[in-house]
Amino acid sequence: MEHAGRHKIEIDGVSKIFRKNGKDVTALQETSLGIERGRFVSIIGPSGCGKSTLFNIIAGLVPPSTGRVLADGANIVGKTGHVGYMLQKDMLLPWRTILDNIVLGMEIRGVPRRQAVERALPLMERYGLKGFDRHYPKELSGGMRQRAALLRTLLYDRDVILLDEPFGALDAQTRITMQNWLLQLWADFGKTVLFVTHDIDEAIYLSDDIYVFTARPGRIKTKVTVNMERPRKQEDLTSPAFMELKNHLLKLLAVEQRTAQDEEKIS
Ligand SMILES: Nc1ncnc2c1ncn2[C@@H]1O[C@H](COP(=O)(O)OP(=O)(O)O)[C@@H](O)[C@H]1O
Ligand SMILES: [Mg+2]
Repeated sequence: MEHAGRHKIEIDGVSKIFRKNGKDVTALQETSLGIERGRFVSIIGPSGCGKSTLFNIIAGLVPPSTGRVLADGANIVGKTGHVGYMLQKDMLLPWRTILDNIVLGMEIRGVPRRQAVERALPLMERYGLKGFDRHYPKELSGGMRQRAALLRTLLYDRDVILLDEPFGALDAQTRITMQNWLLQLWADFGKTVLFVTHDIDEAIYLSDDIYVFTARPGRIKTKVTVNMERPRKQEDLTSPAFMELKNHLLKLLAVEQRTAQDEEKIS
């Protein structure tokens, strides 16, 4: 059923208060945002401002204290299985081969094994994992493992994908390769992507929209739209428009980092 509204995902007054050692800790202040179908949207903000908490809520893994999450207009609060989600600490299962890791999402959804493998193998080939189907995660480089984890998330076959700092642990060169690879994947599959990063260059290079969150407890401080042509090119990273946007975001974030540090000193 096609939803009449223009938002693929709508976050409506979502907040989260955790109870920790008998004290209430606000992880996320009331947050509302709408994400249009097919957009690539990033969230940046200081550590601890509630980015992962928001993702956990969207994925239905953590109940919000207030608010709703709508997917195609239907409330999905507390329901898993509506979005593909690559957690910040995403791990491939070490006892499964790369192929068996990649088909896991389809396995969970009940896709027959043969069919799952038939879908996975050409994608592994296209996305640089050819010949590694029978290898185990520890035998692969960090970049390859991340590609496998991303393919697994993708093959879970949801319209919306949440990626929480997926490239945070990679070296600079691998990271750039992975960013281009992700953009290719996004263009090929037409997914709606929500992406958390602490890397401003990465946010600009990849995104249509960037939400800047305040220091803890987080809320939306600003939304910035990146008006750069697609497909994005390496040269874009040094263009005047890119630099201007980067400086703008750096200033916004610097204020929030300071707030976060001050808070740490006080508590
Ligand atoms: N399960 C939990 N119980 C208690 N506090 C939590 C829990 N998960 C997150 N928090 C707290 O909520 C805040 C936001 O965390 P998180 O969403 O992980 O931030 P981010 O991803 O932006 O770094 C932090 O102060 C964190 O300690
Ligand atoms: Mg996080």
